[in-house]
Amino acid sequence: MVPSILVHGGAGHHAPSSVPAKRAAARAAADAGWHVLQRGGSALDAVEAAVRLLEDDPLFDAGYGSYLNRDGEVELDAILVDGETLRFGAVAAVHGVKNPITLARRVLDACPHHLLVGDGARRFARACGLTVPGLALVAPDVHARWLADRAGTAASEPDAYDRFRTPDGLPGDVAGAMRGPALPGDTVGAVARDTAGHFAAATSTGGMRDKWPGRVGDSPIIGSGAWADDRGGAVSCTGHGELIMRVCLAHHTGLSMCQGATAEDAAPAAVRYLADRTGGQAGLIVLDATGRPGWARNTHAMPVAWRSSDGAGDDL
Ligand code: GLY
Repeated sequence: MVPSILVHGGAGHHAPSSVPAKRAAARAAADAGWHVLQRGGSALDAVEAAVRLLEDDPLFDAGYGSYLNRDGEVELDAILVDGETLRFGAVAAVHGVKNPITLARRVLDACPHHLLVGDGARRFARACGLTVPGLALVAPDVHARWLADRAGTAASEPDAYDRFRTPDGLPGDVAGAMRGPALPGDTVGAVARDTAGHFAAATSTGGMRDKWPGRVGDSPIIGSGAWADDRGGAVSCTGHGELIMRVCLAHHTGLSMCQGATAEDAAPAAVRYLADRTGGQAGLIVLDATGRPGWARNTHAMPVAWRSSDGAGDDL
């Protein structure tokens, strides 16, 4: 089988000054995965290698440099999906893990469960030797932005959930609590097919700016943030997680490829469906059952890079 890998660095509104570096990082990640595939490595190893590089790069909202939640902490989500067996490993709202995609890999390989969250995920990470101090994941410019976001609110709103404490116990001002800049951005992901014909998908994120503690988006949710099945291909999504989850975007796309859609057709059709049904903004990368790549977005930009025996390229 012809191997291939395709990576993304998040659908969003990328500052023009960051674009050259993000394109270069996406290419480097695709190269890292490609080297694994070229040596006969598995699609799972390839997507993990690609996503690890992007997690280590503070340009992206994954691993080091992720957005902080309202408590000022990095809380990470990641998933890795095996298209041969349909098994997956996922972690959500986990603190103090530098490469959550590798923790997701440990869940896949060595855990009787598929999804671990919060403190349990961190305890598993500690057992695997994958923890770092939480502050080690905070990039200085992200911290400065968090301080600016919190300016004027910290004193009156010490806890993200305090505003929901009402005398009668009824829900408080949900719409008001979600005010301000909250769009996700710079989630990372990869999809690959190896020489044995097996597919894998990986997605990793720090979620959205100004998110509530404990908030989990689409990324670690099977069929929302990622999907893979050797019968149809592989998908990794990026964008507004709350809306992506409503339509199970990765599974929606994968199902259409199982039914014969090409990557080139399936990706834009899925983004149109999301926009029609939810008004959401997102992007996704896909490989179809023949290993052909496709991608689409309805945001300003999405760094993409791919490698296969047929060549290499990138896009934004
Ligand atoms: N798509 C990433 C998130 O919403 O968390």
